[in-house]
Amino acid sequence: MKKVGFVGWRGMVGSVLMDRMREENDFADIEPVFFTTSNVGGQGPEVGKSAPALKDAADIDALKAMDVIISCQGGDYTKQVFAPLRATGWDGYWIDAASSLRMDDSAIIVLDPVNDDVIRQGLADGVKNFIGGNCTVSLMLMAIGGLFREGLVEWVSAQTYQAASGAGAQNMRELINQMGAIRDSVADELADPRSAILDIDRKVAEVMRSDAFPTDNFGHPLAGSLLPWIDVQRDNGQSKEEWKGQVETNKILGQTDTPVPIDGSCVRIGAMRCHSQALTIKLTKDLPIAEIERIIASANDWVKVVPNDREETLRDLTPTATTGTLTVPVGRLRKLNMGGEYLSAFTVGDQLLWGAAEPLRRMLRILQQ
Ligand code: HSE
Repeated sequence: MKKVGFVGWRGMVGSVLMDRMREENDFADIEPVFFTTSNVGGQGPEVGKSAPALKDAADIDALKAMDVIISCQGGDYTKQVFAPLRATGWDGYWIDAASSLRMDDSAIIVLDPVNDDVIRQGLADGVKNFIGGNCTVSLMLMAIGGLFREGLVEWVSAQTYQAASGAGAQNMRELINQMGAIRDSVADELADPRSAILDIDRKVAEVMRSDAFPTDNFGHPLAGSLLPWIDVQRDNGQSKEEWKGQVETNKILGQTDTPVPIDGSCVRIGAMRCHSQALTIKLTKDLPIAEIERIIASANDWVKVVPNDREETLRDLTPTATTGTLTVPVGRLRKLNMGGEYLSAFTVGDQLLWGAAEPLRRMLRILQQ
C-alpha cells in the first residue's frame, strides 16, 4: 500500500477531495498520513481507518517518507517545499491542485477522462509531478473534449461566467454578505408593494457603491454586478486567467507544438461554485449538429448534452442544477450565422469537483493500477 501524504486537506478544495475520497472508498487502498501547517500532533480527518497524528507540513524528512504527496495547500506552500524536497533526492509522486508547477516541463496537467494517454505516457517516461489544471480549462475540456479528440477544433473563443468559489472560500462568504447587505438596505421598501422600483434601485446602487459595502476579498461589488477581470494583468492585455485557456488546454492535450488558439474574456459573476462558459468554436469542417452532439456526448461518462430547447436548457444547464455534481452539461449547441463551421455551445461545471479535486483523486487511483 502506498503511503500518501495529504497537505491542505482542511481547506475548501481539500475538504471536497476528502469527501470524494470517502465516497469512492479511496482510503481503503492507501496508507494516509495527514500534514498540517498549524496543528502538529493533532488529529486528522475521519477516513474510516487510523492514521498517525498530524505531521508538520514543513518537515522535509517527514514528507520524504511518503510515496505520494497530494497538496491542496496552495501555490505558496508548493514554492516553499517542493524544490527542497526534490533536492533531497525524493522521487515520489507529487500531485498538486496549485498552479505553480503546472507549466513546468517536468509536470503533466491531469484530467484523465481527456488526457489519459498523455498521463500514461508520462508515467512510462518517469514523470513524477502531476498537477490539476485551471478549473475553467478542465471544465471546458470535460465538455467539448470529444471535438478536440476528433481533431475538429480550429479555434475556440470562450467567454466565461466564473463563480465566487474560484476566488476562495472567503469570497463565497463575501458574495452572500453582499447579497444580504443589498437586500437588507431595501427590506422596508420591498415589503411595501406600492414602493417605486426606481427608488429601490437608486438606494441599492448607493449601498453597493458605499464604503460600508463588504468588499475586503473581491475588492469590488460582485452581487448585483460582475467583474470582468480574473487574476493578475499580463503585458499583452490578457488577464492571467485568459492566458491559461490556450496554454493549459494544449498542454493537457499534449499538443504544445501545434497549439489550437483559444482566447476570450473571463468574467466573475455571482454564482457560488459552478463556472459557466459560452463557447464559439470554429470547426475544421461543417458537420451536422446531430453528429456533433454524438461526438461530444460519447467523449466521457460525465458530459451530458442538453438539447437546445428552452425548457430543458433552463432546467438542466445552470449552476443551480449542476452544483455539487460531477455532471458537465453542455447545450445551446447550434450553428452561428457566420456559417456551418461556426458552432455555439454553453457549458456549466462544478469548479470544486472536475475543476479541482476530482482529477487529483483519479490520478492517485491511476498510480495504484
Ligand atoms: N482561477 C480560477 C478562478 C480558479 O479564479 O475562478 C481556479 O482554477
